[in-house]
Amino acid sequence: MAIYQATASAPVNIACIKYWGKRDTKLILPTNSSLSVTLDQDHLRSTTTARADPSFERDRLWLNGTEEEIKDVGRLATCIKEMKRIRREVVEAKDPQAPKLSTFPVHIASHNNFPTAAGLASSASGFAALVSALAALYELPSSPSELSVIARQGSGSACRSLFGGFVAWEMGSAADGHDSLAVEVAPQSHWPEMHALICVVSDDKKGTSSTSGMQRTVETSALLQHRIKEVVPARMAEITAAIKARDFDAFARVTMADSNQFHAVALDTEPPIFYMNDVSRAIIALVVEYNRVALEKTGKRKAAYTFDAGPNAVIYAPAENMREIVSLIVRYFPQKDAFKDVFGLFGVAGVGEGGLV
Ligand code: ADP
Ligand code: DP6
Ligand code: CO
Repeated sequence: MAIYQATASAPVNIACIKYWGKRDTKLILPTNSSLSVTLDQDHLRSTTTARADPSFERDRLWLNGTEEEIKDVGRLATCIKEMKRIRREVVEAKDPQAPKLSTFPVHIASHNNFPTAAGLASSASGFAALVSALAALYELPSSPSELSVIARQGSGSACRSLFGGFVAWEMGSAADGHDSLAVEVAPQSHWPEMHALICVVSDDKKGTSSTSGMQRTVETSALLQHRIKEVVPARMAEITAAIKARDFDAFARVTMADSNQFHAVALDTEPPIFYMNDVSRAIIALVVEYNRVALEKTGKRKAAYTFDAGPNAVIYAPAENMREIVSLIVRYFPQKDAFKDVFGLFGVAGVGEGGLV
């Protein structure tokens, strides 16, 4: 009896232009395009194994060893169903010899090597790894952009983790979402000097999930309307140009401005949402001061902070500045006081190359 099983890993991605808001909550279609950097696999990643077997009774999933319910029309069920459909249409319908894996239930086991639901993008690596593992199990010929359409329906940010390097999620305009997908802006090799420092301020589960937080913002924030119409389109163009030109100063300016505005629309939500804490704000002050000195000396910024839906900071900087930045952070934030120990102190990640592992 053959064994049908595959394992895949996917890294997290950290957005420079933030996704925050859905125009369709079922299909997960965003109110604005977004752009992120996919980190390498050495620090924050999800690893997922999927197995198909006719003797299984139903689809089941374990996350970090605990079974998660696969709700009937929920996101997990949608992703699994869509992947089975592609297996059926693209493989089994064309090759009568191919085993009918689409008819077998699957068991899926996933592990995150970093805190889940703490604002470090576990839903991004998690659903990207899930879709990648099923694509490998089902031997699908699909491209990363095609798979990103499925991963998007698990968690919006997950669509961007199908690529390494610098990645845009184009919001698209079709009602069925087929053009709301991830595309590569530039591969990791285009700008290998770009590094990310992950400062784990807290590994607690956040109080407001991204899903419910952004829904509340869509329903109550007037500032969000200004953001999606007037601000994001110009920033997408600006940061894409900065990446193409390897212009770190422009990249940093736009990245920090967009992190600030994302947290401003969270605050503009009713009731307001606070994802950053005092340590987060102190990290902002430190990076601002570091850049002020650099701007005075050279006219260019040397680091960029960004915060997702949680208090943890990611600092993007060219590798040559990282030693200095790490020593500054250590000086002002002694590890015992400010950081929970996840990677020793924190991780300096490169940008990932992408592709299935
Ligand atoms: P985060 O900031 O970590 O992305 P979210 O609130 O967006 O937080 O999503 C967290 C949820 O994503 C988890 O509660 C879980 O349902 C899902 N998730 C996280 N990791 C995985 C994984 N490896 N496989 C499947 N689902 C996952
Ligand atoms: C602040 O992708 O986690 O990290 O689509 O509801 O699963 P759902 O939300 P999610 O939201 C991520 C929000 C963000 C910004 C970003 O990654 O672009
Ligand atoms: Co998430």
